[in-house]
Amino acid sequence: MARTNMIRTAAAMLAVGALVFAGGCSKDNGTDEPTDDGAAVEEPEAPPADDPVEPPVDEQPGAGALEAGALIGVSMPWQGTQNWAEAYNGFKPALEAEGFQAVVDDAGNDSGKQIQQIEAMIAQGAKLIVVGAVDGTQLGNVLDQAKDAGVFILGYDRTIDGTASVDGVVQYGAFTTGVMEGQALIQGLNESGAEKPWTIELFAGAPTDPNAGFFFDGAMSLLQPMIDAGEVVVGSGETTFTEVATLEWANEKAQTRMESLLTSTYTDGVGPVGVLAPNDGIARAILTACEAGGFDLPVVDGLDAEDMSIGWVRTGKQYATVAKPTPDLIGRTIEVINALLSSTEMPAPDFTGDNGVKEVGIYSLDPTIVTKANIDDFFPCSAAADDEVKANWMCE
Ligand code: BGC
Repeated sequence: MARTNMIRTAAAMLAVGALVFAGGCSKDNGTDEPTDDGAAVEEPEAPPADDPVEPPVDEQPGAGALEAGALIGVSMPWQGTQNWAEAYNGFKPALEAEGFQAVVDDAGNDSGKQIQQIEAMIAQGAKLIVVGAVDGTQLGNVLDQAKDAGVFILGYDRTIDGTASVDGVVQYGAFTTGVMEGQALIQGLNESGAEKPWTIELFAGAPTDPNAGFFFDGAMSLLQPMIDAGEVVVGSGETTFTEVATLEWANEKAQTRMESLLTSTYTDGVGPVGVLAPNDGIARAILTACEAGGFDLPVVDGLDAEDMSIGWVRTGKQYATVAKPTPDLIGRTIEVINALLSSTEMPAPDFTGDNGVKEVGIYSLDPTIVTKANIDDFFPCSAAADDEVKANWMCE
């Protein structure tokens, strides 16, 4: 399975670190061939002044795959969580500040719509398209069209599997992110003083999003050994990705599942002491279901450091979130795009991952666990907000 391969490769973190470039620049013009008497052959005639020797194309300043002012397409999956809304709004100004033209779309979580939007970007003459896939397995054909038109494809935040027509992916290490979610949950349970075995529940994100699988696998790499050792019990017995996934990352669906788990499994009124949450929206949905049902609030992790969850972490209602700041991810994407102004090849990635068809270069950033204990280091201007308040977290 591509996901497993990718994890293995990412975990090794050793991978080549550079794409293997075909060709190369060595030339053999025969000028150093000795003659019979040992003397070098005469230098070939100097080229006429109006026919200067050109350096290899990929070494010329400004002679890269992209021209200054090129049109860049940005296809985002939806704006249903803060990170994606920030990416949707942030890419255009960030690209324009670098002198590019930008066309940005949001697919509203609809794969078919995303395909049409990418087709339109190709038709408009986009030279590179940044894709946050709704479902990376559905994009093969349209990405092949892009490749045929000479368009670079850069996955953003999510991998794009099962196609050779992807040139790289910029993301916070997805497996590492999941490990941090599991780590935060375990840390919170240790701090809570709850007696083992800990009874918990598990939630994952949308099955169409490869990140959801990585996040879950990362968290389970820590939780499964504890389950096997009898230190952790999943109250409902629902432990597979398919059982715990949340269609479309919909918070309402997660809230409904939590409500039914509480009424079916926790009939004595004692709820789970911890719940694994794949992101902040689902973390808040879980906590809301527990609160509404009159249960003690479990230890819950999260992801994205959304404004509202930062408020909840500060008050202790949500134990933790994992921060993966969008401005930094946009910045890393722009670095990769800028590199193509002076090179015809993608820059060397941090590592590579198998997408089922090829090794894809991953340009990676590190996420961070944020709890009440270190919140001032990351969000010094956040305040204990109530649910409605959006404070000015970043001191801007
Ligand atoms: C992103 C998360 C986000 C989720 C739902 C994932 O692919 O990595 O940051 O919470 O999608 O939008």
